[in-house]
Amino acid sequence: MESEPIRVVVTGAAGQIAYSLLYMIAKGDVFGSEQPLILHLLDIPPMMGVLEGVVMELSDCALPLLRSVVPTDDPVVAFKDVAAAFLVGAMPRKQGMERKDLLSANVKIFKVQGEALDKHAKKDVKVLVVGNPANTNALICSRYAPSIPKENFTAMTRLDQNRAQAQIAAKVNVPVASVSNVIIWGNHSSTQFPDASHGTVHMAGKDIPARDAVGDDVWLRTAFVETVQKRGAAVINARKMSSAMSAAKAAGDHMRDWFNGTPPGKFVSMGVISDGSYGAPKDVVFSFPVSIKNGKWEIVQGLVTDDFAKELLDVTGKELLEERAEAIAVIEA
Ligand SMILES: NC(=O)c1ccc[n+]([C@@H]2O[C@H](COP(=O)([O-])OP(=O)(O)OC[C@H]3O[C@@H](n4cnc5c(N)ncnc54)[C@H](O)[C@@H]3O)[C@@H](O)[C@H]2O)c1
Repeated sequence: MESEPIRVVVTGAAGQIAYSLLYMIAKGDVFGSEQPLILHLLDIPPMMGVLEGVVMELSDCALPLLRSVVPTDDPVVAFKDVAAAFLVGAMPRKQGMERKDLLSANVKIFKVQGEALDKHAKKDVKVLVVGNPANTNALICSRYAPSIPKENFTAMTRLDQNRAQAQIAAKVNVPVASVSNVIIWGNHSSTQFPDASHGTVHMAGKDIPARDAVGDDVWLRTAFVETVQKRGAAVINARKMSSAMSAAKAAGDHMRDWFNGTPPGKFVSMGVISDGSYGAPKDVVFSFPVSIKNGKWEIVQGLVTDDFAKELLDVTGKELLEERAEAIAVIEA
C-alpha cells in the first residue's frame, strides 16, 4: 500500500538554495523514493511572481512523488500540518549592516515563524534552520514554539562538515565517502571549530585515525581549520554569490540522517540545544557530534578534547552567548 503524503515546508523558496533543494526533496533524495510529498513554499510578497516560476518548473519536472505544491506568503498556510521544515529564508547581511542589525531583522522573522509552527505544524515536526545566523535563529524560533520539543529545532553545520570531509579526502587522496566522523563544533560562523581528531579514514580495508592518515598535525590545526572556516567567503569571492548547491545538498543530508538515523559508530554534526556537554554554554544552539536513532539525536559523549580543542570550543561558545544576549535584547526592547 502506498504511504500517505507528508507535508514539507521550505522557506525562502524563491531563493537560490531553495532552487537546488526543492528538486532534491521532490525527487526523493531526502524522505526516500517511496514517500509521496506535498511541498509548501513560503516567501515574501514581492517574490510571489518568481515563486510562480519555481512552481511551474517543479510541475515541469514531472516528479512522481510530488503530489502538490502550495506556494504562499502566509506563514499560517505554509506551516499547516508540516512534518518537516527547512527554514532557509532569512534577512541577508547588507553592506554596512552590523551583526546587531542583522540579528534584529532575523529575530523578527524567526519569532513569527516559531509562533506559526507552534500553532499549525505537527507537534513532532523536525525543523532545520539554514538561514543565518542559523544557530541563534533556531534558538529564537524554538522559544516561540513552546509546544514543540526544543530537540526538534536544529541549525545546519552539515555544509561545514561536508567541506571538512572533502578537505581531508583531498589531502589523503581517498574518495570523500572514505572519511567519517569529522566534527564541526559550535557556531556556523568563522569561529566554528572543524575537528578531525576523532575522524577516521577507510584505507586498505580498515578504518584508521584521520590524524594518522593525514600525518600532519600542524596542517590539521592551521590550514585545515582556516580553509573550512573561510570556505563560505572563498565561494562568494569566486562566484559573487554565496554557496547554494552545496548548501542545498547539506540541508538534504541533515534532514535525511535525522529521519533515517546514523550507522553504528558513525556520527554527524548538527546545531542542537546545548546541555553543557564538552563545556559548551547551556541553552544555546551549539554544533555537536550526534548519533541518531528512531528520529532522535543524541550528543556523542566521551570524546577526549585537548587544550587546543578546549580553547577553540570556548571562543565559539562565547560568540553564541553574545549572539543570544543581543537577540534577547531585541526581543525585550
Ligand atoms: N547554515 C549554512 O551552512 C548556510 C549556508 C549557505 C547559506 N546560508 C544562509 O541561507 C540563507 C538563504 O540563502 P540563499 O542563498 O538561498 O539566499 P537568497 O537571497 O537567494 O534567498 C533567500 C530567500 O528568502 C526569502 N525571504 C526573506 N525573508 C523571508 C521571510 N520572512 N519568509 C520567507 N522567505 C523569506 C527572500 O525573499 C529570498 O527569496 C541565507 O541566510 C544564507 O546566509 C546558510
